[in-house]
Amino acid sequence: MEDKGAKEVRGSWSSRFGFIMAAAGSAIGLGNLWGFPYKLGANGGAVYLFIYVILVFVVGCVVILGEIAIGRKTQLSAVGAYRSFGKRYSILGYAGIVCGFIILSFYSVVASWGIKYFFTYFGQIFTGQHIQNSGEFLTSFISGTAQPLFYHGLIMAVTVFIVALGIQKGIDKTTSVLMPMLFVMLVILAIRSLMLPNAAEGLKFMFKPDFSVLKDGGFGKVLSAALSQVFFSLSIGMGVMLTYGSYLKKDTNLVKSSLIIPIMDTVAAILAGIVIMPAVFSYGLDPTGGPTLLFVVMGEVFASMPFGSVIGCVFYLLVVFAAVTSTISILEGITAFFVDEKGTDRKKAAIISGIAIFLCGIPVALSFGLLSDVTLPALNGSQLPILDWYDYVSEYVIMTLGALAMCILVGWVWKPKVVIDEVTRYNDSFKLAGVWSFLIKYITPVLVLLTFLTSAGFIKL
Ligand code: PHE
Repeated sequence: MEDKGAKEVRGSWSSRFGFIMAAAGSAIGLGNLWGFPYKLGANGGAVYLFIYVILVFVVGCVVILGEIAIGRKTQLSAVGAYRSFGKRYSILGYAGIVCGFIILSFYSVVASWGIKYFFTYFGQIFTGQHIQNSGEFLTSFISGTAQPLFYHGLIMAVTVFIVALGIQKGIDKTTSVLMPMLFVMLVILAIRSLMLPNAAEGLKFMFKPDFSVLKDGGFGKVLSAALSQVFFSLSIGMGVMLTYGSYLKKDTNLVKSSLIIPIMDTVAAILAGIVIMPAVFSYGLDPTGGPTLLFVVMGEVFASMPFGSVIGCVFYLLVVFAAVTSTISILEGITAFFVDEKGTDRKKAAIISGIAIFLCGIPVALSFGLLSDVTLPALNGSQLPILDWYDYVSEYVIMTLGALAMCILVGWVWKPKVVIDEVTRYNDSFKLAGVWSFLIKYITPVLVLLTFLTSAGFIKL
């Protein structure tokens, strides 16, 4: 296969720091702040955390290295990159684009709740009035029509604006400022949470394992919840990391990057857990509260906390920052396809894709109100509400199968040497090349397949 060489028009990161911040920005998002704590809560706490961390290393780091290396090697976004190995492989790139559309359609809706909460808490600082019942507040907001649509549109508009500005001026600049701020805010909020009475209970729940959750099919449930979370949280299996890798200059060490990004992402997820769990226990709330944990439960917490409005305002700002650095990466994966493959102008590609995603997200934005009765089928025969279905199709089906296909292709068809050669091309050493090849050939695909079959209901672990 011929290398295309860096094309100036495609743009590139300003520095290694710029790339790491953008990639970590893509990884760290609602998956960490919203998904991780509630999945941890619903899957037994420490056991889930333990399995999750192992999977980050044996699956996450392995796949991310493959994706970034293929991106840098081909200097193309997902469709073109996979096609350069043979026309039939481009389907993997297309699946990624479809996946991006689906994810952004629901992700933008959940992120937009964060904006609503941010404005609400910001207002409270001045009015001194508090949300009386955070469950009712959330329900009455999301069951409306105009407001959920308006906030969903707002997130999409901001995302389009940043992506239209391009790699260095838009994504690189935005994430290089927002990511360090996000970590500072997370640490401050975690310290605040640790100072609450009874905080130790929350920590115990997070870090002291109770293995009984693994009995009676529990292992398969925890495994598939943890693995799909690894894919979603690291933005892998659908071409976003590959696309970000394609804007790399030659001098970035790929092995280090594919360790640093997952480590930052995992630290952010654990910090989010430390912000949320002690608070949940301290106020006697239920850690298995599910997807609304971030909004309803934290709402209760802020309402009963001194300076709750200020802290709530900072917290939801953090949620919005984290979400936007992820939404731009998803839109970039789609925009780059039109720019690379169709020669479309970047601004035009970003605007048109943004509008299409806004439209695709309308059913999700209305799924708690006008469309609350609608359900859609999953592979195991169950019926899911609209938001859960979008999440399911993207996270459990396409990303999992996408990562599986990439492992099989790199491990068996194109051979690990393609990636190893790219990693070591500029004299960087790759001491763990043997381990990595073993993992991508034998361990990672088997784990991914087992998990997929379990979550689809074909086998029980
Ligand atoms: N990783 C992001 C998060 O954890 C979500 C995401 C998925 C971003 C897929 C890009 C691609 O919130």
